[in-house]
Parts: sequence; C-alpha cells; structure tokens
Amino acid sequence: MRIDIITVLPELLQNFTQESIVGRAQRKGLVEIHVHNLRDYSTDKWRRVDDYPFGGFAGMVMQCEPIDRCISKLMAERKYDEIIFTTPDGEQFDQPMANTLSLAENLIILCGHYKGIDYRIREHLITKEVSIGDYVLTGGELAAAVMTDAIVRIVPGVIGDEQSALSDSFQDNLLAAPVYTRPAEYKGWKVPDVLLSGHEAKIKEWELNQSYERTKRLRPDLLEKK
Ligand code: ADE
Repeated sequence: MRIDIITVLPELLQNFTQESIVGRAQRKGLVEIHVHNLRDYSTDKWRRVDDYPFGGFAGMVMQCEPIDRCISKLMAERKYDEIIFTTPDGEQFDQPMANTLSLAENLIILCGHYKGIDYRIREHLITKEVSIGDYVLTGGELAAAVMTDAIVRIVPGVIGDEQSALSDSFQDNLLAAPVYTRPAEYKGWKVPDVLLSGHEAKIKEWELNQSYERTKRLRPDLLEKK
C-alpha cells in the first residue's frame, strides 16, 4: 500500500512517518508513505500556494494550481483508490472507514489549511472528504497522521500478532477488555485471579464479559450498532 500526503508543513509529518509501527511497516516494505511539499508545485516566485478569497471574506484560501499540479503528477504515475481531503465538514473517520481504506492500493491525502481550499478542487479532484472529529484543527496534518496511523496498523503483517489488531476496541463495536502484566500484585493492587488460572475458556468468557460491561458503561451507543 502507498499513501501520498500533500501538505504545506512536510516537517510536521516527517518524524511521524519514520517512527514506531508506521516507520517499521515502511522498513518491512509493507507500506510506502510519501510526503509532498505543496510549495514545490507553486509557480509563484515566492512559492506561495494561497491567495485572498473572492467576495471579500476573511482569511486565505489555497489555490487550485499547485494542488492540481501535484495531484495530476501523482495520478499520471499510478491509479489512486481515493483522493482524500481532510476537513472538519467531511465524513466522520471511524474504524470501519479505516478498515476499508486499509484495503486500498494507493491513497492521496491532501491536508487542508488556512480558511480552506478553492472549492473547485473539492468538486473536480477530491473523491472523499474526511473529518477526524467535531473540532477545528489549525490544519489537516494531524488528521492525516491520525488516519494514516489507523489505516497502516491494520495492513496485514504490520502488527506482529494478527489477532491483536482484530481484537482492538471498535473492531466489533465493543471496547477492549483490560490488560495486565507482571507483577501479579503491586502495592496490594491485584490482577484478577481468573487471568492467573490458566483456564483458557474461563479467561475468554471473562474477557468478553469485561468488554460488554465496559462498553455498556462507557459507550452504550456502540451496543446499538451491533
Ligand atoms: N482540519 C481542521 N480540522 C479538522 C478535522 N477535525 N478533521 C479533519 N481535518 C481537519
């Protein structure tokens, strides 16, 4: 899988794409993440990519040309499953969307900035508009990082234990059960006895009960989706 991220702040994403599980997935050859500096596609001598909005509104708007030049270059090189724009008025990102996008071969994520982008880009080039939540960020870079992280970690082979990604919270609309590690007792705080019992069936039953109980208490809305 390949993800191309288009941004005016490439440095913000450089570390993220090289570190941790996403970085390791790239070194293993399972995913490729390419960060493109939108300013490299500006024809302006000051490398500007934004301008004042028509109609006298406040703020700056990202121009069509640099975005079109960058996306067109990428599209000439390979076929993309989706060209995503990060925006607070987009479709809400969630686990089912991450699952679907993780099956894609090639994705472009265009990070929004300033007041927005020239609407013609959204009408003519973007295939999917995505929000990571009902709040406004200063730019789409963190949204692109959140989406990339959630998508990449479920690509087969990225997380060593295949079962681990499937048993995440939200994969079956249930929150995950609590987990514990050694020591079995710390400052008098005890690990539930059943986990030390070695009784596999009982442990499974405990895990499922905990999942249901936590979901009912913390996110009852998820049970309605089941
Ligand atoms: N850009 C600004 N706010 C955003 C949000 N909540 N989701 C995605 N992109 C954004």
